[in-house]
Amino acid sequence: MKLKDCIALVTGANQGLGKCYTEELLRLGAAKIYACALDVDWLQPLCGAYGDRIVPLKLDVTVGGDIAAAVKAAPDVTVLFNNAGILAAKGLIETGSSETFRREMDVNVYGLADMSLAFAPTLARNGGGAIINMLSVASLANFPPFGTYCASKAAAMSISHCLRYELKAQGTQVFGIYAGLVDTDMLKGIKGEKSDPKDIARVAMAGVEAGIGDIDADERARYMRKLLQDDPQALEYLQHERADAFVAANR
Ligand SMILES: NC(=O)c1ccc[n+]([C@@H]2O[C@H](COP(=O)([O-])OP(=O)(O)OC[C@H]3O[C@@H](n4cnc5c(N)ncnc54)[C@H](OP(=O)(O)O)[C@@H]3O)[C@@H](O)[C@H]2O)c1
Repeated sequence: MKLKDCIALVTGANQGLGKCYTEELLRLGAAKIYACALDVDWLQPLCGAYGDRIVPLKLDVTVGGDIAAAVKAAPDVTVLFNNAGILAAKGLIETGSSETFRREMDVNVYGLADMSLAFAPTLARNGGGAIINMLSVASLANFPPFGTYCASKAAAMSISHCLRYELKAQGTQVFGIYAGLVDTDMLKGIKGEKSDPKDIARVAMAGVEAGIGDIDADERARYMRKLLQDDPQALEYLQHERADAFVAANR
């Protein structure tokens, strides 16, 4: 699909990957972006730089009232970009309760699902359009130091595939983006080789324009998908070895 002249709504657009996706969509000719954030004041830099091509919206993807208000405020959306996410950066036993896991599920899975449910009629009315879901290599294999996050991203991938099938009839394309460690606030203080979020945005939006459903946006994603296809058991062992190295370097 061509992104030129699209009208997109991007969740978590104030920083990190969401901000880079917003800027890449604008570079590709998006007519307007509903840039969403928990606090609209944090969208000032984007509004200042791009003027009325940016429409700021307050949106917490776990709050039904916010989602309903966004549907009302953005009737012309053709691309829904489910980018917002959180990471606890802990394992389940390490955390000692399932509370943070539930919070990750709320944002990373139910937030994505509720936004897709709410905006599906808008997309249908506007010709089909697309839903783009920010997934992760965490969707492909569990990395125990981020164990509960990985479980939520695996569920997000699964519901993304469900949406792809269910929304085909109304002409809505559903894309998933996969990346390894990316240099954003989410990983502040965590050591490791990280991709530049601007590179991820460029590769991912090129993938959308090329019509690739599941887009591996960096080397780590391409490597992990290959291993998953060739030898899933080897991938699990590799993740355990990486977990040992990660714990030694970061904890
Ligand atoms: N960084 C990585 O290594 C990496 C790799 C693969 C995938 N991802 C995924 O990429 C996406 C963006 O992450 P990022 O790296 O750009 O991290 P980030 O800089 O922490 O950005 C996350 C964004 O989501 C917003 N957000 C959090 N909870 C929300 C909620 N309940 N409702 C609405 N917005 C909410 C955040 O708002 P605040 O600014 O208020 O916190 C922020 O704008 C996430 O889905 C993440 O899982 C990240």
